[in-house]
Amino acid sequence: MIPNDLHGTRGEDGVTEFVLEAREARVDLGHRTARLYTYNGTFPGPTLRATEGDRVRIVFRNGLSERTNLHLHGMPMPPAVDAPHRALEPGETRAYEFTIPEGVAGTCWYHPHVHGEVAWQLGSGLAGAMVISGREEAAGALRGVTERVLVLQDLSLDGERPRLRTPMEMHDGREGELVLVNGRSAPTLDVPAGLVRLRVVNASCARFYDLCVEGAGAHLLGLDAHLLDAPVAVGALLLPPGQRADLLVRAEATGTITLRDRPYHRGVLRLPGMRGTPRPNDGVLARLAVRGASTPAPTPARLRPVERLDPRDAVATRVLEYGGEGGVLRLLGQVARGQRFGYGEGDRGAARFAFNGRSFAADRVDHEVTLGTMEVWELRNPTSLDHPFHLHIHPFQVLDIDGEAPAFAAWRDVVNVPAGRVVRVLVPFRAFPGVTMFHCHILEHEDNGMMGHVRVVDPTAPDRARHGCG
Ligand code: C2O
Ligand code: CU
Ligand code: CU
Repeated sequence: MIPNDLHGTRGEDGVTEFVLEAREARVDLGHRTARLYTYNGTFPGPTLRATEGDRVRIVFRNGLSERTNLHLHGMPMPPAVDAPHRALEPGETRAYEFTIPEGVAGTCWYHPHVHGEVAWQLGSGLAGAMVISGREEAAGALRGVTERVLVLQDLSLDGERPRLRTPMEMHDGREGELVLVNGRSAPTLDVPAGLVRLRVVNASCARFYDLCVEGAGAHLLGLDAHLLDAPVAVGALLLPPGQRADLLVRAEATGTITLRDRPYHRGVLRLPGMRGTPRPNDGVLARLAVRGASTPAPTPARLRPVERLDPRDAVATRVLEYGGEGGVLRLLGQVARGQRFGYGEGDRGAARFAFNGRSFAADRVDHEVTLGTMEVWELRNPTSLDHPFHLHIHPFQVLDIDGEAPAFAAWRDVVNVPAGRVVRVLVPFRAFPGVTMFHCHILEHEDNGMMGHVRVVDPTAPDRARHGCG
């Protein structure tokens, strides 16, 4: 019930190499089996483990009978390596090689990124975690703390296979009726008494989790790929698709701790007579059965200093406005015309999911920024659905939500932009010139075009190289 760890092998060149293959496999879900897409035959995929500063090579083979690729969500790396546009044909192999930057000590994850197929492929099982240890963790306050990775996925099956999406699901984002933690429904995990670190990954296509820990005190240690500067006591924590939370739980004596998902209204469109989003198992995601009686060590007071970005250093404010929902009838029309999954090429008849009125175009750069500068990105959501914002490669900090500053400073790569709200983030473009992408991490929205490109221009590069590769 814990994904296998994959430590990789360090070659003579000093590079730690991991081998991953996407392939179809029958997997055991505990109470039933299913034929899913997997990495290395397991669901979820293995947890890749590395340390900040490591040079890493992931040798990835597409063993599916359709095109796919691999995206390391949350990892700052050159856009040419990330290459979310480049798809591998069936049977093709590609190596993704990069250096984990110093300071990245948290939880990343990996998943496919072929535009138009992302929701389908993730919803068929393709996701796994990558855990990056910080250099000082081995010696510092978190040393020896029990750790569990919890990958949250949901599935909707038709017999043994993932079910195709309905037009309504292509609009709202599908919430599968099976909610699985590490491939099991409401599993119980044994943990020794003491401090327990839970790395929770929301690898679901559209389902939000409003997490709370019952039966123990919980602190947030980090978000996404970075630690906070000090643990923050948390009651509940909303985890939108794509986001990761690093939680520290005080597991005392013999008892049970429950990780629960509370009801959260993300503004899903409802027609009269439709029922609300089902929450299987009454919201119980997982239970921790605490063994032994040792008293947990004190919660560490400090973790790692987090730089405070200053909005006065921003050179520009850029507005990104979500739009384009409400096209359900057009979507239905499209399905009637027999287009796969009820969405298709660009704007022709599809519900237009867009930023600033423009649906994603593979050959269009939507924004240009200058390497070495910082910008305020004002994320406006006038729609009636929440849209989690994600930017590749360049971590950011929240400046405010409807003018209100966040309670603590944190680097992150996903932020939920609630319906009707404005979220401002500070984005420093410090490295990695070239074209990368931002999108809504409700994967149906991403596939429907709620995605765009940003080009980070290096002003010192000679003209030809300046624009980087796309
Ligand atoms: Cu989780 Cu563009 O990715
Ligand atoms: Cu990403
Ligand atoms: Cu969205």
